[in-house]
Amino acid sequence: MKVAVIGAAGGIGQALALLLKLRLPGHAELALYDIAPVTPGVAVDLSHIPTTVSITGYTGDDPSPALEGADVVLIPAGVARKPGMSRADLFNVNASIAKSVIEKVTEVCPNALVAIITNPVNTLVPIAAEIMKKAGVYDKRKLFGVTALDVLRAEDFVAELKEVDADKVYVPVVCGHSATTILPLLSQVEGLSFTEEEILSLTQRVQNAGTEVVEAKAGGGSATLSMAEAGCEFALSLVNGLMGKEDVLCAYVEGNTQYARFFSQPVRLGKNGIEEFMDLGPLSDYESAELDKMADILQADIQKGVDFIE
Ligand code: 2OP
Repeated sequence: MKVAVIGAAGGIGQALALLLKLRLPGHAELALYDIAPVTPGVAVDLSHIPTTVSITGYTGDDPSPALEGADVVLIPAGVARKPGMSRADLFNVNASIAKSVIEKVTEVCPNALVAIITNPVNTLVPIAAEIMKKAGVYDKRKLFGVTALDVLRAEDFVAELKEVDADKVYVPVVCGHSATTILPLLSQVEGLSFTEEEILSLTQRVQNAGTEVVEAKAGGGSATLSMAEAGCEFALSLVNGLMGKEDVLCAYVEGNTQYARFFSQPVRLGKNGIEEFMDLGPLSDYESAELDKMADILQADIQKGVDFIE
């Protein structure tokens, strides 16, 4: 099993590489790539941690050596938000970075599972799909936008509010990955109920949690460590799925909902990537009305990506 991290020297990339070095199963191979010349050194540094995972690091203009033979490609490459910016404000810089990475993926490891962490996820995943389609290698069961951090945040905030253990809470979070398109499905949290006021304040906190970190870091970037943990958990689920151990989680995919072509929804992961696009399940009136509103915003984000490629 080979996992490539593209953008491995950044704040998310280095933490993600560390977590993967510690947690990938068996004799997995971890390949790091970044344009930052420190990347081979990051790999040497991590290689001294005695686990069964082998690690190599590459820099330069071409990520191909890291992508060669990859089963899973994780992409945190790109620039992060500063206070006052939305994820969409990163589009101009990050769309070009994502485009060049995805073009390499289609050439070098067209069958890999590809997970995009770089923002704006809502728009970059459609861009990746269009590039893969043009190259004739697109398989919607193998392309993901990572929205796992929204789930972790929702679980943490619910656990804090209800004074229960966070590891016992599961909150599906659906739709997109921006302040106006993230929707935790609190009506589906087992064993807990929420007042209307709690629903509104928890929903807003999950939607603005990325901005909460951006503001707390005061110009020093956006979420890196929690994002790395979410990315690592997501990657482990992809790897486990490829090895036949199935898991259900939410990801931003070209799915089957009525709301938008790309949508974060629960999927069952297995040997071929997505084995099943799952239903959203019963929605409360509030959730249903919110999704109707969010659909237009998400569709516009998706169209922006399609237009960029056309
Ligand atoms: C976040 O939600 C970085 O988009 C990421 O904080």
